This record gives sequence, C-alpha cells and structure tokens, in this order.
Amino acid sequence: MQQVTTLASGVCMPLVGLGTYKTRGKSLIYSVIKAALQAGYRAFDTAAVYRNETEIGDSLKQLLPEFGLERKDIFITSKLSPQDHGFEKSLQAFEWSLSNLQLTYLDLYLIHWPGVQKLKSEDAQNQYLRGQSWKALESIYKSGKVRAIGVSNYTVGHLEDLLKTATVVPHVNQVEYHPHYLQKDLKKFCDLKGIHLQAYSSLGTTVEVSPLLQDSKVLCIASRLSRSPAQVLLRWATQQGVSVLPKSTNTSHITENIQLDFDLTAEDIAELSGLGISQKYAWDPSAIH
Ligand code: A2P
Repeated sequence: MQQVTTLASGVCMPLVGLGTYKTRGKSLIYSVIKAALQAGYRAFDTAAVYRNETEIGDSLKQLLPEFGLERKDIFITSKLSPQDHGFEKSLQAFEWSLSNLQLTYLDLYLIHWPGVQKLKSEDAQNQYLRGQSWKALESIYKSGKVRAIGVSNYTVGHLEDLLKTATVVPHVNQVEYHPHYLQKDLKKFCDLKGIHLQAYSSLGTTVEVSPLLQDSKVLCIASRLSRSPAQVLLRWATQQGVSVLPKSTNTSHITENIQLDFDLTAEDIAELSGLGISQKYAWDPSAIH
C-alpha cells in the first residue's frame, strides 16, 4: 500500500510519484509508465516544458484499463511553462495541458518557475506576471478543473510576495531538496504556512555522476540496511513527510524507488541532514526577481 500525504486542499497525494523530465518518445514513455504502474506508482509528474504530456496521456489511456484502474485512481501533476506567465496565457496553457493529457481535470497544477531570466518586453515584470498567473491558477482551482494548485522553484521571498495577495495559499512547493541541499529555511516556512514541500532531484543525478548516490554516509547506511543508496535518499525525504519524484527509465530502478517500506533511524536522518554540504545540482531560481 502506497504512503500518501493529505494536502491543505484535502486531496490525498502519494508520497512517491514518477518524475518524467527528459523522458521522451512514444515507446519509451509507454514502457516507463507500464513499468511504473506495475511497480505500484499511482502519481505521475509532468510539465508543459517536458514536451511529453501527449505521450503520457496516450499511455495512461491505454494502460489504465489493463491494470484495472480508473482516472480517479491516479494523481497527475503538470506545470505552467515560464513562457506562459500572465492571466489569460495561464488559463490557455492549463487547457492545453489538459487536452494534451486527454483529461477533464488535473490533480495538481504548478507554476513551474517564478519567472524567466530575460523577459522579452522591457516593461514586463516577473513579479507582476507571476502574480497574474497565480490569480489564474486560483480561478482554475475554484472552477473545479484542478484539485490542488501550487508553485515550483519558489524561494521564501517568492512565497512571501505571493502570499500578500493570494486568496488560496499554494498547496505545494516543488523544489530541489536532498541531503546536499537542505533549504532548511524554506522547509520551515512551508511547514508554517501549510504548504507541502515536494522534492525533485532527490538523487542529484541531473549531473553526470551523482555525488549524492556516492556519498559515503549514504553508502554506509544503505549497506547496513541492505537497501540501495537511492532508496536511502528517497526514504530520508518521505520519512520527513516530503514527497519525492524520482525519474528513471530503468525498470529495476523504477521498481526499487517505490519500495520504501523501511525506516531510517533518527540517527540516520540526523546524520544525513547534518552533512553540512550546500550544493545545488539543478538550476537556481533565486536569481529571478
Ligand atoms: P536511470 O534512468 O538509468 O534509472 P533525479 O530524479 O534526481 O533527477 O535522478 C534521475 C536520474 O537518476 C536518472 O539519470 C536515473 O537514471 C537515475 N536513477 C533513478 N533511479 C535510480 C536508482 N534507483 N539507482 C541509481 N540511479 C537511479
């Protein structure tokens, strides 16, 4: 049985979902989704900028009946492209994602980035545009076409800014979060405001050779528990109530990444949280004002 968390919107979300960044191509996506459903995944994370929504929609349409599942049994997240910030553009972009995924509602829709580094028009401001995007997400949420809304790559500053005018507090903030990049202040802020923190790059493998998967403390705990380093890193997050989105195209990795039915000790968690490393492996959103 999959572990779930309840978002502030009252919606249950699995703590482990399949990440699909860079997973492209019809047959690869079909086989990855099939392996994931087989392994027990019920949550799938995509985004307009991943350019795989259509293939994911096609695969789910075909595979759900084969697994005896219905739409309500799975949790689908997509995200607003940074190029589509603004009220009207956000509304249209949401409809586009919905139609690509061939769905009538999404479970979670996120603002992917707080803005873009180089805006096309000199008059445009990220701060204004993302405020308008949030208004659009609030209106979509109120219309019932999405069960929860949130943001991604938001710093404490971006969230403080949003909360000044928000009528719906974001249900989720999806960010890079792992023992080499703890973001303690952000986690504390999100906990205080009832915003669920969701981790991406849990395995740190957007870089060629992951320093996280080779961290000696991670390896030591993994060996003691007879688990893989990836499982230790994922369990470190889920044991704190942080959801994870490991991505993989390898069936045995897909399978092991959801087998987190073990506990780290309090000492293990403290040790991994106290490595004292502050190393980002994905892009840095703090430059966007
Ligand atoms: P692969 O597709 O060969 O499994 P992240 O989610 O942190 O971005 O990491 C994704 C990367 O981690 C992918 O390159 C993926 O490669 C690799 N990966 C996923 N699961 C595992 C695992 N259990 N063990 C080792 N590497 C993994």
